[in-house]
Amino acid sequence: TGAAPGRPRQLPFTPIAPQARTLDAVTVPAGYRWDAILRWGDPILAGAPAFDPAAQTPEAQAGQFGYNNDYLDIIETNRAGTTALLVCNHEYTNENIMFPPGTAAETVVRTAWAAHGMSVVELTRRKRGDVWTYVPGARLNRRITLDTIFTVDGPAAGSDLLKTKADPTGRTVRGTMNNCAGGTTPWGTVLSGEENFNQYFLATGTERTESRYGLSPTQDSRRWRDFDPRWNATSADYKNEPNRFGWIVEVGPTDPTSTPVKHTAMGRFKHEGANVIVNSDGHVVAYMGDDERFDYVYRFVSRDTMRPGNSPKARQHNLTLLSEGDLSVARFTGDGLADGVSDGTGEWIPLTRGGASMVPGFTIEEVLVFTRLAADAVQPTKMDRPEDVEPSLRSGRIYVACTNNTSRQAAQVDEANPRPLNKDGHVVEMIPTNGDHTANTFAWNLILICGNEQSAGRYFGGWTGPVSPISCPDNVAFDSEGNLWVSTDGQPAAIGLNDGLFKVPVDGPERGHVQQFLAVPSGAETCGPVIRDLEGSVFVAVQHPGEDGTYAAPQSRFPDYVPAGSNAAAGQFAGPRPSVVQVTRS
Ligand code: FEO
Ligand code: CA
Ligand code: CA
Ligand code: CA
Repeated sequence: TGAAPGRPRQLPFTPIAPQARTLDAVTVPAGYRWDAILRWGDPILAGAPAFDPAAQTPEAQAGQFGYNNDYLDIIETNRAGTTALLVCNHEYTNENIMFPPGTAAETVVRTAWAAHGMSVVELTRRKRGDVWTYVPGARLNRRITLDTIFTVDGPAAGSDLLKTKADPTGRTVRGTMNNCAGGTTPWGTVLSGEENFNQYFLATGTERTESRYGLSPTQDSRRWRDFDPRWNATSADYKNEPNRFGWIVEVGPTDPTSTPVKHTAMGRFKHEGANVIVNSDGHVVAYMGDDERFDYVYRFVSRDTMRPGNSPKARQHNLTLLSEGDLSVARFTGDGLADGVSDGTGEWIPLTRGGASMVPGFTIEEVLVFTRLAADAVQPTKMDRPEDVEPSLRSGRIYVACTNNTSRQAAQVDEANPRPLNKDGHVVEMIPTNGDHTANTFAWNLILICGNEQSAGRYFGGWTGPVSPISCPDNVAFDSEGNLWVSTDGQPAAIGLNDGLFKVPVDGPERGHVQQFLAVPSGAETCGPVIRDLEGSVFVAVQHPGEDGTYAAPQSRFPDYVPAGSNAAAGQFAGPRPSVVQVTRS
C-alpha cells in the first residue's frame, strides 16, 4: 500500500469484521497487536499501594489510576519522542463491578470520589513507535479527584449563584466529576467537559433551573449525600452546589502544583468536551456539544488573541484565553431534501458578547450558569445528542458526532436531524464561512448517517462501496492526513455489535468510506482515540468493559483475562479493569 489519500503510509490496514456484542476481546487488524499500558488501580503517585480489588480504600485510589478512562491524550515531552505525559479523564464509576459484596457504603462512596476526575502520568519508551511504559511515582504524575481545589474564573466567578456554605466566595470549587471528552490546547493545557453531574445530587427539581439540567429527587442512586452534605441540593446550604459543576475545566499537565480552572465564560451544560482551533486572526475558538437529546452545539470565541511561542510570558497570557469571550449557539437551516442530501447553511446566535448578555431577560451570570435556559430563548436547532465537536486542524471543517436520539418523533425531524427514532446517529460537517471561525455563518452537511444494511436513510458521504457498519458515533479524532476517526458508544444495543473505532476519509474519492480499525470488549465503549499514524500507533481508552456484570460474576475479564476464581488479594482480579490500550504494528 502506498500513500494514496486515506491510506496513511504508516497505518495501513484491512478493516476488521464487525464483532458480536458478546465477544470479550479487543480485536485489531491483521498485522497489529494491542497492549494495555495503564489500568484502573495502577499506582501512579509515589507511595501509592499496588491495586488490591479485595481491599480498596479512598486513600489508595487517590494515588492510583482512576476508573472509566474517557478523554485521552499522549503529549510528547522530548524531541526524541521517548518521554510523554498521558492525560486522561475518569468519567464515572461502576460500583456493581468495582467492589466486593459487603464493602462498607462509606468506603464505596469515598473510593468512588477518588476514582473520578483526571490522571496525568509520565510515560517512557526506548524509541519512537515502541509501546509506552508508565512511570510510577514520576515527578509530574498527578491525580485530580473530587477533593482537588479548582479556581472559578470568567464573568460568573463570584456570582451569588455559585455560593455555598463551604464557599461563600463562589470562586473555589472542590473537585471535578463526570469528565467525559476533552481537547488539548495549542498552549499545552487539557480541557475536560463535566457532563452528567446531575446524577450525583439530590434536588427538588421543582425549579426550571434544576429540571432543565435533569436535577431531580430520583437521580442520586449513589447516595453521596450520606457522607457529604454538599450533594444534597435540597438544603439551603448547598442549593447552589450543582451550579458549580457542568463546566469546561482546564488543567496544565506539566505543573502538578497548578490550580485547575473552571471557565464560566464557556457556559454551563452537560459538556461533552471542548476542542480549540486558532483562527487566522489569532482568536481562539472552542467548539462544544451538550450531550442530551434535543440539546445544542455551542461556540466560544476568545476576547484576546493567542501569543505564539513557549516563553513564560506567552504561556501566562494564553492561560487566560478561555476566561473571557463570546458564547454562541448553533442554528442549522436545511435547503430542502429535493437535492438528495441533508445540507444547508447555519448561524451562530449570540448568547454573550463583550462580557454582556445578549439574551433578553437574562443577566450575564444567568446566561453562563443556566446556559440551557438562555439558549432555549433564542431557538437554536435541537440536535440528536451532540457529543464530541472537533475542528480538523488541517481543513478547518468541524465535525459534530450526534450519537443518537430515539426520542425524536416524525413530527420533530429537520434536515440536520433527519431520522425519527434515531438509534444510529449521524455526523455533521460544518464549514465556516470564508474559513473564518469567528464568522456568524457556516455551511453544513451530514457526512455520515450511520447504521448497518438494515438501517433506513443511511448515507456515507457519497461513497457507495462497502462500509463497516457503524452506529452511535461519540468521539472524533484526526490522523496526520486529515482523515476522520470515529469511536462509538452504543453499537451493542443499536446494531448488536461491539463498539469500535472507525477511519473515515473526508476528502477525495474515498470520502465517507467507513472502515473499522478495532473493536472493544463486551460491554465497553471506545473512548479517547489518539491516532499517531506516522509512528504506527493508535490509542484508545476502553471504558466500562463488562458494566452489566457483578463483582462475583464478571461479564468481562479485560485486559488481563485472569481466570475466574483467582485470588483477588494476590492481585489476581478476575473482573474487568478499564484501561488505556496502545495498538502498534506487530
Ligand atoms: Fe460521557 Fe456524552 O458521553
Ligand atoms: Ca439538502
Ligand atoms: Ca462521550
Ligand atoms: Ca476528540
